[in-house]
Amino acid sequence: MPTPLIAGNWKMNGSRQLVDEFGRAFRDAALPDGVSVALMVPFPYLEAAARAFEGGPLALGAQTLSDRPSGAFTGEVGGEMLRDCGVRMVLVGHSERRTLFGEDDAAVLARVRAALGVGLTPVLCLGESLEERDAGRTEAVVLGQLEAVLDGLDAAQRAALVIAYEPVWAIGTGRTATPDQAQAVHGAIRARLTRYDAELAAAMQVLYGGSMKADNAAELLAQPDIDGGLVGGASLKIDDFLAICQSAG
Ligand code: PGA
Repeated sequence: MPTPLIAGNWKMNGSRQLVDEFGRAFRDAALPDGVSVALMVPFPYLEAAARAFEGGPLALGAQTLSDRPSGAFTGEVGGEMLRDCGVRMVLVGHSERRTLFGEDDAAVLARVRAALGVGLTPVLCLGESLEERDAGRTEAVVLGQLEAVLDGLDAAQRAALVIAYEPVWAIGTGRTATPDQAQAVHGAIRARLTRYDAELAAAMQVLYGGSMKADNAAELLAQPDIDGGLVGGASLKIDDFLAICQSAG
């Protein structure tokens, strides 16, 4: 069984003050044994977060990275810089990056490679739109996004990934996938991973994201193929995020 991971994604929200408050609250919090927690904060707060989270359980994450190592790419942030700031993991292929910023499967693969190349853990996000679900294409879309990345990696690189299934229609909408709906897709992801390697499939952390909240986390996390959560809105409130982390134990 993969160990549970609860990762918060602040998106373009938060403040320096909130970073400090989270650092303090989590340092004092009693988390269940074996549960890992991480927070993906906006770039400008990374250094403050690295300090605030030191000595506590929160691992530091970023929300995207450039596919280039360094150079004349105004406005971009490279993986080496993230490492330098204490970042351990980075979201890649979040649906907002795919839909609002035009990141296609090739761009996602390039970013996964860039992250792996500097020792960051990529959290690869997959998910179908409502139209795709209604058309009965959920598995085709999600597994297609998965294979587009896995096929471009070697076995060691695949083993270094975390996967997050986030149905686009559930993100920020308050409309969570039911535990059965989520489990069905997680099971399909796990089965597809088995085609690559049974050990890879058994060890892979596959997180659910999309309106995960304190009051629905436990039943989602109880599903056999859901190994944790990627939490947006509810990760901005200390009590809510802590409650979700507690329910992963
Ligand atoms: P949400 O966002 O929890 O606010 O739905 C999840 C995400 O986008 O990672």
